[in-house]
Amino acid sequence: MPQLVGRFRTLPEYPLATIPQRKRELIARGVDVIDLGAGDADLAPPPKAVEALVNAAQKPAMSRYGFGLGLVAYREAISAWMTKRFGVRFDPFTEIVPLIGSKEGIAHLAFAYLEPGRIAIIPEPGYNAYQGGALLASGEPYRYALRPRTDFLVDLDEIPSETLHRTRVLYLNYPNNPTAAVAPRDYLEHVVARCRELDILLVYDNAYSELAFDGYVPPSIFEIDGARDVAIEFHSLSKTYNMTGWRCGWAAASPEICSVLTKVKSFTDTGQFMAVQAAGVAAIESYDAFVPGNVATFKARRDAAVDAFRAAGFSCDVPRATMYLWIALPDGIPSALFADRLLDDEGVVVMPGSGFGVGGEGFFRISFIVAPERIAEAANRAGRVLASMGVEVG
Ligand SMILES: Cc1ncc(COP(=O)(O)O)c(C=O)c1O
Repeated sequence: MPQLVGRFRTLPEYPLATIPQRKRELIARGVDVIDLGAGDADLAPPPKAVEALVNAAQKPAMSRYGFGLGLVAYREAISAWMTKRFGVRFDPFTEIVPLIGSKEGIAHLAFAYLEPGRIAIIPEPGYNAYQGGALLASGEPYRYALRPRTDFLVDLDEIPSETLHRTRVLYLNYPNNPTAAVAPRDYLEHVVARCRELDILLVYDNAYSELAFDGYVPPSIFEIDGARDVAIEFHSLSKTYNMTGWRCGWAAASPEICSVLTKVKSFTDTGQFMAVQAAGVAAIESYDAFVPGNVATFKARRDAAVDAFRAAGFSCDVPRATMYLWIALPDGIPSALFADRLLDDEGVVVMPGSGFGVGGEGFFRISFIVAPERIAEAANRAGRVLASMGVEVG
């Protein structure tokens, strides 16, 4: 077999890669497994989306290649929604790129902007597609640890100027996976201004823009003056509509930036199944009828999670957005060891902070993907593991 290339060998293990197999083994042994791992809820998508998929799948024209253009109605629905939701207008044909889930777009974009010697600032803990794209494009990652000290924000002023001058891409994701942090508007203004000065592409991942609680309304980066010159924003139907497996997302940006991503994609895929895009239209059009109820379900799960994990002896902030709780571990308990113990001894899947990069050590993440009672039961079991490890470590 030919030797693998260096850039492939720089890829770490994908954190979720081994969990499905370990889960299967535990279930086969009769363990009552509670999976709070992936951001992949057990909830149903909008019925209108399912109906639209069924109808569209019966039309032969939908079975043909979508190519880059895809279903025009999907582009138009996205554009109308962006205007209604954020007050910003994007031309459906030149300023929107339909994606096969936002992950592929995020990862593919790096091929156009990174190469050896060009830096990508990668927040850690963070979504793994940022480093995946950067490493596969042979870019140079600059890993910035997201810690409570900066409210889990990337403080560009802490990064050496030599690094900033070689940086071409900055990945930001607020509301944030996994920390659940949100970004204040003045922070975003500062970042946009710095990216303009330094000629850095701001890749703003807004996958959780619609999962927010207690009156918090996450902004689009394009609500910030000057963002059109430097930013591309990624959106997804995955979390908003419980449609993770459907692979439906999009990017919004200036025609110049969109055409770059479109060109890369024209060599790597031939468009999402158009029946899925038709379902995407139905999902977006059901926003008012569907999303508030779905958010209320996640809020009930969030409240249950905060109460139960605090009662079990953990400390965590109350998240204002996302479907995650970022839970601190006492000093001296490595997050990977804790997560292993929790799975092996108690059958609970959580994500160790270290799996999201070194900055994530000292925390673990749970997702609000099962009912409140199951989350509470998982917290109880986690409390038992914490108590047993606390004794050993102490
Ligand atoms: C921060 C973030 N961005 C993007 C995605 C990808 O979503 P999609 O299903 O659209 O690929 C996820 C999925 O977990 C995520 O957490």
